[in-house]
Formats: sequence, structure tokens, C-alpha cells
Amino acid sequence: MSKKIFIKTFGCQMNEYDSDQISNLLEKNENYQKTDDLDDADLVVLNTCSIREKAEDKVYGQLGRIRELKNKKPSLKIAVGGCVATQEGEKIFKRAPYVDIVFGPQTLHKVPSMLKTNLKDNKPQIDISFPAIEKFDNLPSLKTDKVISQVSVMEGCSKYCSFCVVPYTRGEEVSRPLDDILEEIILLSKQGVIEIHLLGQNVNAYRYKDIDDVEYDFADLVDFISKIDEIKRIHFTTSHPNEMNDNLINCFKNNKKLANFIHLPIQSGSDRILLAMKRNYLYLEYKNIIRKLRIANPEIKISSDFIVGFPGETDEDHKKTIKAIKELDLDYSYSFLYSPRPGTPAAFIKDETPLDVKKNRLNEIQELIAMQGKKHTEMMLNTHQRVLITNEIEHNIYKGKTDNNRVVEVSTEKPIKDKLINVHITDVSGKNLNGDFVNFES
Ligand code: SAH
Ligand code: F3S
Repeated sequence: MSKKIFIKTFGCQMNEYDSDQISNLLEKNENYQKTDDLDDADLVVLNTCSIREKAEDKVYGQLGRIRELKNKKPSLKIAVGGCVATQEGEKIFKRAPYVDIVFGPQTLHKVPSMLKTNLKDNKPQIDISFPAIEKFDNLPSLKTDKVISQVSVMEGCSKYCSFCVVPYTRGEEVSRPLDDILEEIILLSKQGVIEIHLLGQNVNAYRYKDIDDVEYDFADLVDFISKIDEIKRIHFTTSHPNEMNDNLINCFKNNKKLANFIHLPIQSGSDRILLAMKRNYLYLEYKNIIRKLRIANPEIKISSDFIVGFPGETDEDHKKTIKAIKELDLDYSYSFLYSPRPGTPAAFIKDETPLDVKKNRLNEIQELIAMQGKKHTEMMLNTHQRVLITNEIEHNIYKGKTDNNRVVEVSTEKPIKDKLINVHITDVSGKNLNGDFVNFES
């Protein structure tokens, strides 16, 4: 009988991707099967995130609960992976001695062998190193029955923004070989995948040199992928403003398979704060990128990330961020309260702004963002949108997502499940949009 694995994933899409890889690996190598029932598990994996808040405390809280299970079922194995694992390392065994395995985002391919060793000698196993990009060479090819697939193209980040833990927990930027990525996508397309989400902390920092020393950038990668006939739409996340070269901007004009959408984190509208965050661009430079993107593709929708209450942020800085959200005409964006992360330079800056002032600023920004998002939704009325239909919710009623992630319901007798179609949007008043089938996207 196969053993059962329960995985809980925190944080970003990279972590979700990694979790899929872990269960896939254990299924292939050790005959484990995924379960959604914690009580049923033989192995529990916490794939953690440390980007904000007291992530460590949350993980130890969870572990406390899983410990009770282990008391009842001593054969239960517990593994902690992801960014908190890298950050905490050996400390995890000290605070939670019942944990069996600690692994990092770059060593998840070693989980099966670590598990084997632990099952033999019952000794704690740890590997949180960054062995370049060896991880991808050790992963089995993904089996899927879905039409959308995520593909990681690069790992890590070398930007070292002053507030961010990612460079320390996931390591520096490393790109996967172009051929490997294309091979993986071709394999996925043969299984019916028609939409690809390219993942990375800074996807547009992607660089690859072939044996003849020819260098390819992210735009080249996107263009190669779009040559695969079966692939109909390409999304990517996340991008960095400083890596938005003209090649990539032109892709939004010339490459019809690229979604008319980009998530491009700006963090603040104030140059003073951007400098303290070490983002290495000015507001005007960011605005210029947006201008060029809109010239290249007038249809493009743009969303962003904001950090509110960075140490030293004044009311004036905050007003500049408010002005930026309006001026940049952003679609639904994300905003977060600044959270000091252990070991990052910003954690040492004196922070005198009271919490309630920060929370008021966050509320104001979130209200504005919601308003902007609603405005963009309303602008979609009576337009044609590309929608990838993924569900039939009732007989002949289907659901899917537009390029800018709006859910649309379409009622038709046509066989549109798992197809990319064009939809005429007829109603934007509800939670989901409604629309009529126009035609299949060729
Ligand atoms: N690579 C992306 C960011 C990835 S982290 C980039 O180009 O910026 C995702 C988001 O989390 C960031 O954009 C930022 O808005 C937020 N974030 C990161 N560290 C944070 C911190 N210490 N406090 C609050 N928000 C943070
Ligand atoms: Fe973090 Fe800045 Fe990189 S936000 S992921 S260090 S671009």
C-alpha cells in the first residue's frame, strides 16, 4: 500500500510550484500519494514563506499541532521546507526536535534521499544549501491533466532590496537552460497544456548563454515558447522594472500569445523611499516604462505591489504613492504593511511612524486600488476579451479567466471547455463578468 503525503504551502506561486514538484518526486520515487487529510498522512511537509509577518512563529505554531499527531502516530515524518527553513536552519531542530527533515527551496530534489536516510536511522536530516540550479536536473517530468501549467524559468534574486529576504532565502538569480525549459513546455503541450505561466522572482532577469556564447534574454525565451503551436497564451510573474528592456516591451506589441497584462512591482511613488528601499529606479523612470508599454500595446493592463509604512515614510511620501496609483492608472494591485525581516538592512532603520498611522495609509491605498480595479473591470464592458475556459459549472455554463485575471461566465452550446476563446463582455456588475462566445482563438 502506498504511503500518504500531506503538503501545506505558504506564500508565492514559486512555493506552489515547488510543492507540486515535491509530491511528484515522492510519488515517482517512493510511491507516496497526496492526501488532503492530515490524520491520514505518513509524511507532513510544511513548505514555508518568510516574506512578511512573523512567519517563523506561524510555522512553529503549526508544528506544535502536528506534534500532537506524531505523539499519537510515532511513525509520522515531519519535513519543513521553503524560506523559513533556510532562514532558521538548525534552529528548527532545537525548537521542534520532533522535526525529521529540513530542506531549502533549492534542495527539494533531495527530499526523497533525506527521507530514506531518516527512515533508516531516525536521525534529523538538513540541507538548505544553494547548489546552483541542480534541482531542475533531478526532477521528473511533470504529468498533468490540466490546460494551464506553471514553469519555473529562473530562481532567486540578486537585487537585494533593503526590505526583502528573498536573496538570502532563495539565493541569487540563476536561470535554467533555455533548451530544458522548451523541452518541458513541449512535453506539457503534448499532454494538452495550452497556457503557460512562467515563474521566477525576477523572470525578466532571465539570461542564458548557449555553447556558442550567444546570449538569450527573457523576450527571446517568450518568443521561442510562442513558436510551440499548442501553446495559446503565455503569462509571467514577477518582473522587475530595471529588467524591462525594449525587447520585452516590444513583445507586448509583436507577440500575440503573450497576455495583455503585466504585474510590475513599484513599491512606492516617492523617490526618497525608493532610494531607501534600494530599488534603483526613480518614479519617473518607472512611469516611462509604463508609457512605453502602453504605446507598444494600448490594451495592456498593469498591476503593481506597494509597501506601506516603510521606515521613515512621511505623509508627503504617502501622498506621492497615492498620486502614482492614479497617474499610472493601475489595475488591481497588491499592498502590504511593511514588515521588518530579520537580517535585512531596512530592519536596522529607525521606524518612528505609529502603527495606526501606517494602517490608515494602508486602508486609504487599498480603497483606492479597489476603486481603480473596479474602473478597469467596468471598462471591459462591451469589449472582446480572450478567455481560457477551464470549468463547466453547470450544463452549458462555463467559466474561465481573461488576460488580466477576471473570471468570466459564458453560456453556450459550443464545446468550449479547455479552449481559449474570444468573448464579448455583456455584464460587469456581478462578482464574475458575463459574456457571449464570439469565436475560438486561432
Ligand atoms: N521580485 C518582486 C518581489 C517579490 S516579493 C519585485 O520585483 O519586487 C513580493 C512582494 O512582497 C514585493 O513586491 C513586496 O511588495 C512585498 N514584500 C517583500 N518584502 C516585504 C516586507 N519586508 N514587508 C512588506 N512587504 C514585502
Ligand atoms: Fe525581493 Fe527586491 Fe528581489 S523585492 S525578490 S529583493 S527585486
